[in-house]
Amino acid sequence: MNYNLEELQDRIKTIANLPTLPHIASRLMQIVNSPNTSADTVAALVSQDISLSAKVLRLANSAFYGIPKSINTLNNAVVILGFKIIQTMVLSLTVFDMFTREDDEDGASFDRNAFWKHSLRCAVIARLLAHRRRRTFALDPEEAFCAGLLHDVGKVVMEQYLNQDFHKALNHARTNGVSIFEAERDVLGYTHCDVASWLTGSWSLPDEIEQPLVCHHEPEEATICADSVMICHLADTLSEIDENDEDAVRETAASLEQKARMVGLSARDLTEAAAEIGAEMERASVFIGKQ
Ligand SMILES: [Fe+2]
Ligand SMILES: [Fe+2]
Repeated sequence: MNYNLEELQDRIKTIANLPTLPHIASRLMQIVNSPNTSADTVAALVSQDISLSAKVLRLANSAFYGIPKSINTLNNAVVILGFKIIQTMVLSLTVFDMFTREDDEDGASFDRNAFWKHSLRCAVIARLLAHRRRRTFALDPEEAFCAGLLHDVGKVVMEQYLNQDFHKALNHARTNGVSIFEAERDVLGYTHCDVASWLTGSWSLPDEIEQPLVCHHEPEEATICADSVMICHLADTLSEIDENDEDAVRETAASLEQKARMVGLSARDLTEAAAEIGAEMERASVFIGKQ
């Protein structure tokens, strides 16, 4: 890259007061891996926000997690689902909340609903792929889901805080038939992946979630959590096709086979995952539905 990212980062920090992660989510990221953290501590923290607590309970009882008995308290949710699921749930819900606006007057060329739908598709596919990968070695499906849901968060930050730059890139992409990532790189000298890295730098996210946000367009550049990044890249690519178009699914799976092998998956895993997208999307819609 021939531009100075540090200079750009400073410039962007001055024009865009990049949002910080709200207190509860931020605190949860810090304490969740500590051996001194109990289910009570996590439940007490989440319960400080009534609306967040209600959403967590609603999700915990949804078909997405498929827990057979009903979960009535946050404490039960934490004990039954575990810290990792609560962490990814709170992070997903919080970030989604930060970047959802009702009054989207200037959104003519950036459709937030379509944006979150794409993000959810990527999340669902990443989770399906991570589950399949479990046969060989572990990659947490809930982390894969969360990374997929947030993978393009840099775009929505740009749309909100760097609107002119972002629309310049969108127009360039449209006029020249290139991807938004390429347009950002060519026209602005920085991309939504750089923005995601600047945004989340102080958020204490697990690397398995942060790295896919930063490297999903260039998975081979990832120096850590390469598997999580590759799963997100595969899911992002698959999410662009219509899963009901068998030819498109087969062709895309074949074109991704080499990359899939790098994370212990086959082209068949990709086509089989594609066949499950519809039903999974329905179960996962509770994540971004109106609460
Ligand atoms: Fe992206
Ligand atoms: Fe994407």
